[in-house]
Amino acid sequence: MYRDISKKQLIQAIEILSSGGIVAIPTETVYGLAADATNPTALKKIFAAKNRPADHPLIVHIANVDQLAYWAQEIPDYAHKLATAFWPGPMTLILRKQDHVLDIITGGQNTVGLRIPQHPIAQKILQSLSASSTGNQAIGLAAPSANSFGQISPTLAKHVQQDLGNKIDLIIDGGICSVGIESTIIDCTSDQPKILRPGMISEEDINKTLDSNSQGILPITHTSNTSQDLLDSNTTPLRVSGCLASHYAPKTQTVLISANQLENYCSSLNNYTVLSRHKPKLKKVKLYDSRLPTSFVNPTEHPQNWILMPEDHHAYAHSLYEQLHFADQLNSQQIIIEDVPENNMHWAGIRDRLLKASHPKN
Ligand code: TXA
Ligand code: MG
Repeated sequence: MYRDISKKQLIQAIEILSSGGIVAIPTETVYGLAADATNPTALKKIFAAKNRPADHPLIVHIANVDQLAYWAQEIPDYAHKLATAFWPGPMTLILRKQDHVLDIITGGQNTVGLRIPQHPIAQKILQSLSASSTGNQAIGLAAPSANSFGQISPTLAKHVQQDLGNKIDLIIDGGICSVGIESTIIDCTSDQPKILRPGMISEEDINKTLDSNSQGILPITHTSNTSQDLLDSNTTPLRVSGCLASHYAPKTQTVLISANQLENYCSSLNNYTVLSRHKPKLKKVKLYDSRLPTSFVNPTEHPQNWILMPEDHHAYAHSLYEQLHFADQLNSQQIIIEDVPENNMHWAGIRDRLLKASHPKN
């Protein structure tokens, strides 16, 4: 459920961010670990807290479209259309950067990722920072997901607390993130937009906003293997950490199994936690319903657990990370995720995260 920020905490957050500190803030996708995007010392703290490799670029969050030109240049018309259609919201645009944008933000590339988040608390913080900034200098908050590098993104303040609580200056509790998986990232640096990371704004949503005589959006072409190959070779011009094959992964070994093999697979194991959109046929499993917030559920260790996931893709994305965090606490030998529709643009963002969660760790 959504929680608002008190005036006192808003002032505290602004003070910390303005003086070079780092604050975990709720956004509609996942919690972000925010710092002043113009302050290199503050930005270094993000990398240190997350243990994130220094060459992974950060998304800059801005308050409104008027600030776009401060950060980006040569913005194509279609990018303006996308911005009008989907901001504030779960979409990041990769654009040619302005010269002053710091290398630590861009990973040394000539592009910058920009997003206007929709969450009312993220909005309030960005608006307050804009109001208190001196002169014409536009503001921006660099914010990667507020998790240690390689782990599942947080969708509740308690996820951030458990992972990074002692490494950051403040965590603002805004309730559960409504979208639940990270933003759709769109490369806007050539004639045709291209999806770099699928999310809950789908290819179809995007194509509807583009001119009917345009070529439309280029869908993402990666499979978990090819994106790893891309990263291993030095030929990739874009570093999208979301493209690492093993990313967003629970600590427990995780596998993705097709629906028709699920029961068979489970019956060969004694100890597991399943995430499935169907009710179990197997007896003896302890059933959890993903519609019940995990804060109301006591995770007792049981050998066979079954988390009933929503049928609808929006509801599924909303609870996915919460349930993966929860499943991790059950200390099973394996987390078994029942596969979701393949080659279906509504499920593309979710399936991308499932492939990453279940990719063998190196
Ligand atoms: O929903 C989201 O996007 C969340 C919330 C907090 O806004 N943020 C997020 O940040 O997921 P992060 O750092 O965990 O993932 C951002 C992705 C990374 O994979 C990064 O490599 C990519 O965006 N990225 C950022 N700037 C880029 C650029 N200039 N070119 C290519 N990829 C970029
Ligand atoms: Mg992340």
